[in-house]
Amino acid sequence: MSAARLYARGITKAFSGTRALDDVGLEVRPGTIHAVLGENGAGKSTLMQILAGALRPDSGELMLDGVAYAPRDPAAARRAGVAIVYQELSVCPDLTVAENVLLGVEPRRFGFVDRGRRDARARRALEKLGRESRLPLDAPVRELSSAERQLVEIARALSHEQPKLLILDEPTSSLGSDDTQQLFTALAALKETGLSIVYISHFLEEVRRIADDYSVLRDGKSVASGEMAQSTNDELLLAMAGRGLETGQRRERRAGEVLLSLENLAGEKLPKAASLELRRGEVVGLSGLVGSGRTELVRAVFGLDPVRRGAVRVRAHVGPRSPVERWAEGVGMLSEDRKGEGLALSFPISHNTTLTALSRLRRRGLVSLAQERRESERLIQRLRVRCRDADQPVSELSGGNQQKVALMRLLFHDADVLLLDEPTRGIDVRSRAEIHSLIDELSARGKAVLVVSSYLPELLSLCDRIAVMHRGRLGDFRPSAEWTEHTLLREAAGA
Ligand SMILES: Nc1ncnc2c1ncn2[C@@H]1O[C@H](COP(=O)(O)OP(=O)(O)OP(=O)(O)O)[C@@H](O)[C@H]1O
Ligand SMILES: [Mg+2]
Repeated sequence: MSAARLYARGITKAFSGTRALDDVGLEVRPGTIHAVLGENGAGKSTLMQILAGALRPDSGELMLDGVAYAPRDPAAARRAGVAIVYQELSVCPDLTVAENVLLGVEPRRFGFVDRGRRDARARRALEKLGRESRLPLDAPVRELSSAERQLVEIARALSHEQPKLLILDEPTSSLGSDDTQQLFTALAALKETGLSIVYISHFLEEVRRIADDYSVLRDGKSVASGEMAQSTNDELLLAMAGRGLETGQRRERRAGEVLLSLENLAGEKLPKAASLELRRGEVVGLSGLVGSGRTELVRAVFGLDPVRRGAVRVRAHVGPRSPVERWAEGVGMLSEDRKGEGLALSFPISHNTTLTALSRLRRRGLVSLAQERRESERLIQRLRVRCRDADQPVSELSGGNQQKVALMRLLFHDADVLLLDEPTRGIDVRSRAEIHSLIDELSARGKAVLVVSSYLPELLSLCDRIAVMHRGRLGDFRPSAEWTEHTLLREAAGA
């Protein structure tokens, strides 16, 4: 038998109507970082859930260190040494770091949590992440940055047994580049201890920096694998998509009248006195660290958070302040938290698409469900959403495809002002390029677009002007051509 840490062969898994995995193989070497790549809906998370005992395969076999491995549930997988950090964060904000790390497995004495032993175990788990990531054990997780929360999740995964395999499903999709660096330092330290890591990400630049090996899934099938150093990005993209990436030409933009203006807008805590003007036909970007106040700015404009001072004007008048009224006056928002506030997960794709603009479907007072289905199906095609049909509940879609449904709603609503907070979070490389050309097309049609993104290449290629937010203060807007990734980062750090 091979010396693989994890060996998978012939893994197949079907959900009603969808074949998520079809005869998939995977071989992870000891002490290496193995990237699992593939487009949205390719089957990556499904495979990981099988490795972690959260799903059972219909057929196929797994081996861990040469021994047959068939976990019945996540607890059995953990006992065998397989730990996972899921695509969506699951820390409890009101509990402390130590409580979160050992959630559900606190050491007890006479029926009570043994705090001394709990803290010692939590500290050991955090120490595995390297010296720079020491976190205060008794701080509530609410007070941590997203990177630190991510580290708490990983520490939790590492706390249980002597782990052999750590699975990270898109750990950096909500991190800025500084936080990503902190995570990578920790992963390098873990690898040194002989741990194997399976790493999922849509950022090829990142994957290239840390992964030793890769495997590519396409439509639930294994299509390529090998050593990272022996492959080019073009080869990987070709394997993922089955064809090359076509890059569109950016259209010429002409800015029209001001559709949205902010004058010294201040929220509860953030932002502090932000001013900007957004014109018809423009794409404007907000850069800055995670937590600098970009999301708060967008939320205040949209009426999700209270405005303490200053004014928001839509088409020159100071209007109403609730999200429902914002939608009604043609302002649409894509939240960075698609689960918490964008989507109704148990509802079908079609209802999620039309939720904010039902009046467009009304004829003589009745909502036309046939039309709802038609329009949804058209947008499913347009954005290449991988699903059964428009009736499928959003909860059954992969992470990236859920994000596409959130975008479908904005397109259906046909808002004039689009507030996009991390529009391509969790979206694969090809779809990201397609969404960029879609945003370009919308601006050419006279929409005004505000983009918040932690992915700097996205801001630089998409926007006409960019400003950086630092601790709630918005810097000057400058043409994108005058910025580089380096200068954006420097200003974000307050230098
Ligand atoms: N519970 C479920 N019921 C029905 N279909 C499902 C279910 N879970 C996953 N699927 C389907 O299985 C396929 C693979 O999904 P999976 O989440 O593994 O994709 P992924 O590669 O992780 O994508 P992403 O990059 O978007 O996270 C998708 O078509 C998805 O809709
Ligand atoms: Mg996934």
